[in-house]
Amino acid sequence: MSTTPTLLSLQSSLFSHDGQSSRLAARFVAAWRERHPDGTVIERDLAREPVPHLDAERFQAFLAAPEARTPAQAAVVADSDALIDEWRRADAVAIALPTYNFGIPSTLKAYFDHLARAGVTFRYTENGPVGLLGARPVHLFVARGGVLAAGSDHQTPYVRQFLAFLGMTEVNVVHAEGLALGEAQRDAALAEAGRRIDRLAA
Ligand SMILES: Cc1cc2nc3c(=O)[nH]c(=O)nc-3n(C[C@H](O)[C@H](O)[C@H](O)COP(=O)(O)O)c2cc1C
Repeated sequence: MSTTPTLLSLQSSLFSHDGQSSRLAARFVAAWRERHPDGTVIERDLAREPVPHLDAERFQAFLAAPEARTPAQAAVVADSDALIDEWRRADAVAIALPTYNFGIPSTLKAYFDHLARAGVTFRYTENGPVGLLGARPVHLFVARGGVLAAGSDHQTPYVRQFLAFLGMTEVNVVHAEGLALGEAQRDAALAEAGRRIDRLAA
């Protein structure tokens, strides 16, 4: 972690900072900045700067021994290392998380695929995998057009599972659901999410 408080802020809405999830996350980031005037916010917008999909070539680069990497493989590993370094520097992470087709945005999945590195962010032990990214709180700001019935959310459990795999189990989720179900429902959901964010940031 850095010597000054650091927040990593990830956006993954198609609509960049105009997405509802991005706006919720921005409210948290603004409150965090107020509480940490000397702090640093690392911003990463996956719509504007998408990470390439993981393909066989990129995955082989992760597996190659450092001394055997080709220049192209070294570049792939350096890009992934830079993403991982942002997590290492961060005391906390805020993720704007839209629901698209029941899941996370594909840009976020491609990004996650570059964070999960055996021997770097997790390792296998006799007792199963152990996450190496350390314990830092992660805050998820979920924006969703509909309202999922109890037990049918496969999105946030997946994100929790992925983060736990890398060593992070302190995960706070703020949902704004029903955003496409009329103005009244949208406004109420956003207002309630805003109040929860203010409490989370306090
Ligand atoms: C491509 C696409 C797929 C969507 N799929 C779902 C879905 O499966 N379930 C749902 O409740 N809402 C769905 N929505 C609505 C979004 O969840 C909603 O617009 C939300 O505000 C997205 O977050 P954002 O505004 O930060 O992009 C979808 C929207 C888009 C554009």
